Parts: sequence; C-alpha cells; structure tokens
Amino acid sequence: MATGPTHEPDCRCRICGSSVREFFDFGMQPVANGFVSEEQLGQESFFRLSVGVCTNCTMVQLTQEVPRSTLFHADYPYRSSGSAIMREHFESFAHSLLHEELSGPDPLVVEIGSNDGIMLKKVSDAGVRHVGVDPSAAAAKVAAAKGVNVRVEFFEESSAAAIRDEYGPADVIFSANTFSHIADIGSVLNGVDILLAGDGTFVFEDRYLGDIVAKNYFDQIYDEHFYLFSVASVRTMAARHGFELVDATRLPVHGGSVRYVLARAGSRPTHPRVELFLRDEDGNGITAMETLTRFGENIDRIRHDLVTLLRDLRARGKHVVGYGATSKSTTVLNYCGIGTELIPRICDSTPEKQGTFTPGVHIPVTPPETFHDPFPDYALLFAWNHAEEIFEKETEFVRNGGEWILYVPRVHIH
Ligand code: TYD
Repeated sequence: MATGPTHEPDCRCRICGSSVREFFDFGMQPVANGFVSEEQLGQESFFRLSVGVCTNCTMVQLTQEVPRSTLFHADYPYRSSGSAIMREHFESFAHSLLHEELSGPDPLVVEIGSNDGIMLKKVSDAGVRHVGVDPSAAAAKVAAAKGVNVRVEFFEESSAAAIRDEYGPADVIFSANTFSHIADIGSVLNGVDILLAGDGTFVFEDRYLGDIVAKNYFDQIYDEHFYLFSVASVRTMAARHGFELVDATRLPVHGGSVRYVLARAGSRPTHPRVELFLRDEDGNGITAMETLTRFGENIDRIRHDLVTLLRDLRARGKHVVGYGATSKSTTVLNYCGIGTELIPRICDSTPEKQGTFTPGVHIPVTPPETFHDPFPDYALLFAWNHAEEIFEKETEFVRNGGEWILYVPRVHIH
C-alpha cells in the first residue's frame, strides 16, 4: 500500500549514509526466486519489502536487506538464456566488446554474475581470456559445459584480488542485472578498483528507474533488486569510489534498461549522452517524492484492477493461467493476494522451476507444453518483458480464441 510517513525513520542510504524516505510498502514478501518443492512448502521465510529514495544522493533502494546467501545460493533457479532475444542481446554485446574494448594484446574480461554463460560463451569461443564469477554452482555448471571459465563465489575485494593475482588486471569488467543486487555495493566497487586496469572500463546494465516509474513496472521491485538505478544516482555513487560515469546508453531489454560505463576518474572523456540523460531525469523529476508517490498510487490501482478482472473472469467460468514464473510475478502475486483460486498454474520454460510452486502463494509451475493442454481462455503474462517473443511463439493460443492479460503499464487485455 502507498505509505506516507516512513516505517523506519532511521533507514540510512547504503551509498551515502543519508536518510532514506520510504515511498511504497509491499508488506511481507517471500524470496522472489525462492520456488519451493513439495517438501519445502510452509518452510519459507518472509521479509518486509519496501522501497525508498535517498534524500541526498537520490538512490532508490529497498529499506531492508535480505542476506545475499539467502538470495544467491548454489541452486539459484534463474537462467539468463531462457529468452532468444536475451541471447541475441548478449551475443551482440560480446561481439562489440571483442572488436572494440578487447582488441589489444591478450585482453582479459571478467563478468560479475555470469549465470549460465549467456555472454561469456561468445568470448570463450573467440579464445579470449575471461573469468566469470557467480555464487550459483548450478548456473556455473551450465556455463562451464559451454566452455566458460567460472569461479563459484561472490565478487568482492577478496575474489577480485585473487583474480588479479592469477590473471592480472582486467581490461573490462562486465555485469548485467547483477550489480544492483548487492546491498553492500561498495564491496563490489572496491573489487572493481582492485581488479580493473588503469584504462579499463566497468560496464554494467540494469533496469532503468525512469522506465519503471513511467510505465508502472512495480514488479521490478523485489528482494534481488536492492537498487533501482538512475543515471544521476549512478554518477554520484561512482564518484564516491573514484570512478566517473563516462557513458550511458538506453537498451530495450527488460522493459527499458541502461548500459552504464564507468572508468577511473580522468582516464576517459565523457560522452555527451550522459549530460542529456541527466537533464532529462531532472526535467521529469524521476526521483522527486511527488513522482514516486504517484507511482505508488498507480501500483494500488493496478492491484485493484487486476484482482477485480480475475475475479470477474472466474465468476464467468473462464479459465486463466499464468505465463512465465518470473521473479517479478512473486511481487505481483503476493502483493495482490492472488493464489490458485484465480491462477491454477503458471507455465514456464525453465526446467529448474518446473514441478515447483511459486514463492508465498504456491501456484504450481508447469512446463510450456501444458499451456496447450487445453488452451486457457486467458493467459496472464508475467514475462511481459518478453512479450514480443512469446506472442510470436504462441500464435496458436490466439487463433484458438485465447487472449493475453497484461497488468503494466495498466491492467488491459491485449
Ligand atoms: P525474466 O523475464 O528474466 O524475469 P525475472 O527477471 O522477473 O525473473 O524471466 C523470464 C521467465 O519467463 C523465465 O522464468 C523463463 C520464462 N519464459 C518462458 O516460460 N517462455 C518464454 O518464451 C520466455 C522468453 C521466458
């Protein structure tokens, strides 16, 4: 529910130590990627999910941290390669990296959160020195089978120093949708400082706060996304650690992301795009309390409209299933209080999730083949960021009279 006064007046910014003003409270939530097996039902832990903005450096962040070992462990079920579009996205990035930043003699690239090797496979295939770092042994195993060199651990000062000792300085350190996950982000930046070559770059991409707020992507708020970056907040954070934000580019993935490039202060010119971005953010007031409060009101409206629609469909005897057991769906289902009475199952292509139950509300996750068996009347698309790819794959569903339900930027039938 949208909140006025903060529940935790003493919540301090994890970047600059100033006070954080809460703007939305989702209440108690389970771990977003904590898909449960039958035996584990009822053994989940819950924590409070609420989000605020730093009154000084404007970093939007969660007010409570879930320990990283609870979120990212050996059996972490998320796999980056589940989408063809994401595979293309990272292959194209690897291609440009190999031809631009890694064209010198014997270069080294290190990826923080290499998951199943979606990006590094291409680097490995090109015979370029690389190290992936990821705490998930299961994901690392998939990457290793593709020929990717992975260390199963968290990236921080000690692992960065060990990599530097073994391989020397890195020309590029890369991270996609991972850097924002670690509340103690200073430990990651200190690691980057230890490992990065003098003229190297730290390149990372993440969901963009500007899009989240403008398009009501409230389900991007869950335990793993400790920080929701804006260009201004990233620039300030980088400067505190001796880095400069030298470039920022918009990416279409995950509903709108930004690729940031940090370099050691003074080592590279800053692209004029950064200034344009900053002006745009300022003009739109994306971290202004008024904007964030309005965002909160929109979240409450979506909850009301979605639950009303699903109840109405049930009353009319319509069959609705979920599509994509995303991390995002955990926020939606638990915040809206939607369980098996409204959504009896969710289809998902990730083998690690199939046969489990969604966190908190325990909706069974089934393989994509069950989507056709029989086709439902409606499918609620939790993986809306892959809508194009999924719509293309599921034309038969629509031909059979099926309709897609989306809940962002507002509840509607596609
Ligand atoms: P993702 O969009 O990365 O979401 P999040 O970061 O919120 O977890 O995950 C997409 C999920 O949707 C993943 O579990 C795989 C699933 N999926 C399908 O089931 N079918 C598809 O065609 C695609 C593209 C994804």
